[in-house]
Amino acid sequence: MCGIVGYVGADTALPVLTTGLENLEYRGYDSAGVALADGDVEVYKTAGEVDALEATLPETAEAHRGVGHTRWSTHGPPTDTNAHPHTDCTGEVAVVHNGIIDNYDALRRDLVAEGHDFESDTDTEVVPHLIESYLEDGLAPQAAIEETVARLEGSFALVVTIAGVPELFAIRRDSPLVLGHGVEATYLASDVTAFLEHTREVTYLPDDHLAVLDGAETTVYHDGQPVALDRETLEWEADAAEKGGYEHYMRKEIHEQPQALRQTISGRIDVDAGTVELGLDLSEEYLRSLEEIQIVAAGTSNYAGRYAAKLLEELADVRTTVSIASEYAFTGGRDPWRTLVIAVTQSGETADTLSAVRDAKRAGARTIAVTNTLGSTVTREVEESLFIRAGPEIGVAATKTFASQVTTLALLAVAIGREREALSTDRAVDVLEAIRSVPGAVQQVLDREPQVIEVATRHADADAFFFIGRALGEPVALEGALKLKEISYDHAEGFAAGELKHGPLALVTDQTPVLAILTPGSRPEETLRNVKEVGAREAPVIGATTRPDDARYLQERLDVPDVDVLSPMVTNVYWQLFAYHVADAKGRPIDKPRNLAKSVTVE
Ligand code: F6R
Repeated sequence: MCGIVGYVGADTALPVLTTGLENLEYRGYDSAGVALADGDVEVYKTAGEVDALEATLPETAEAHRGVGHTRWSTHGPPTDTNAHPHTDCTGEVAVVHNGIIDNYDALRRDLVAEGHDFESDTDTEVVPHLIESYLEDGLAPQAAIEETVARLEGSFALVVTIAGVPELFAIRRDSPLVLGHGVEATYLASDVTAFLEHTREVTYLPDDHLAVLDGAETTVYHDGQPVALDRETLEWEADAAEKGGYEHYMRKEIHEQPQALRQTISGRIDVDAGTVELGLDLSEEYLRSLEEIQIVAAGTSNYAGRYAAKLLEELADVRTTVSIASEYAFTGGRDPWRTLVIAVTQSGETADTLSAVRDAKRAGARTIAVTNTLGSTVTREVEESLFIRAGPEIGVAATKTFASQVTTLALLAVAIGREREALSTDRAVDVLEAIRSVPGAVQQVLDREPQVIEVATRHADADAFFFIGRALGEPVALEGALKLKEISYDHAEGFAAGELKHGPLALVTDQTPVLAILTPGSRPEETLRNVKEVGAREAPVIGATTRPDDARYLQERLDVPDVDVLSPMVTNVYWQLFAYHVADAKGRPIDKPRNLAKSVTVE
């Protein structure tokens, strides 16, 4: 989830690139760079924000062609060397990249064997070296890029500039790229925000299409043949453009979930073998000897942890407890070394969670962090870090990071289950197949947003909202209620469905919608009994279900794709949309709810 900007045209490229990078910086990046091409290719790059890059740039530069990049690290920490652009051995091929190249390890090994020197820890660096070797074989630049891309697996948006070649080349797969058509110039970016001040005439580049930019002339190729693509004229205000055309970051981030989840999973699973590779240094012997896993986390991350605990118990057969970070005190077994403490924190900066990690370390437990943020404080405190790769999240309410946390922890549960021989290959294959289909399942829910808008608007003035679920549906009920209360300021509560009759049922009236989860992994048959109980008290029941027959007990049925133990997590996307549209109907400041902050660095 990095940012790309490119330019070829009559003006000098440098000012277009620097303002483009500044426009993209709202996404919160950690290193930046540009390549300017005017005969030779000159690369400037540095760790830190765009300001830091600007301090290293010449005041003016003659080049009329160039690319810029702001990085959100996925492979390797945010250092000068890992910043993009990356170059080949000659320094003549410069490449910027968004996404993840799954097979980079194997490609890198082959290239090193052929004598290529690598400088960075990134997956991207294989691309300029591959292009270099095809150019050495005598291929023309376009053919060398096409051959290179044919060898890549994963998701990418790539922009390539080569010394002595007047064009700029761009190609994408599962990562956005948009062309902007100006006067005697073509712009290029991962997000139109980068060039909106120059032009609103755009072409969205489809997957596996190669754009060759030569000033005002741009030709797009597919399978080696030129193709004609439609242009669109954008009518966005600059502020809306920053949010990808959405009114709020939260809604943009809800809609980014399929892409975020693809990144979370990318290169980590072998479905046929039923195995997971997370790159953690935890030996089989250690995992087999584990007595207990303790998860520590706050807020939404705590609910992701509660979801994960159930998966760890079921798939990895290891006793797992979850603590609210501010309540944690180490209570490991006889041997702290056999207790693995997992801190779940998207920011990596939550003071309560850091304090829990320090407590666990003092007691002698092993610690790992599941986080979204490379270089964050938690990654320096723990022994091992596992990144959820959701990309930057700006809205205060956590959305896509919850989905990526749950999915990452599900991968961890499978990995540990396999090592401990608690999980059969067949069951692992089923779960990994479900994980692989999660991005598509989330997209199906997002496609039903109009139905959610209608339901949310209908119920926006309710007295209170109750969310119910069992098993994996219980933490999702708690998370659904948290999301709604924090952005709409309405009273919302989540309950284990079976607990309703032990007290909360007294609150239920025809003015309190009940949102129920009836999916695999959430004991739908039993929850249906509770749905009937609240229905008998005339509460409007909104049910998310995989089972069409449940409709007769529901005022509104929201269809959920069946993705095994991930079905409740996919249901949560409905609850996110519901919360968003209730809050929107009330005109709340959705991205910045009162009294809250994105990163809570006080205990
Ligand atoms: C709610 C929300 C918070 C955070 C909590 C922990 O939408 O975002 O509840 O989940 O403050 O934050 P991290 O995950 O950064 O430790």
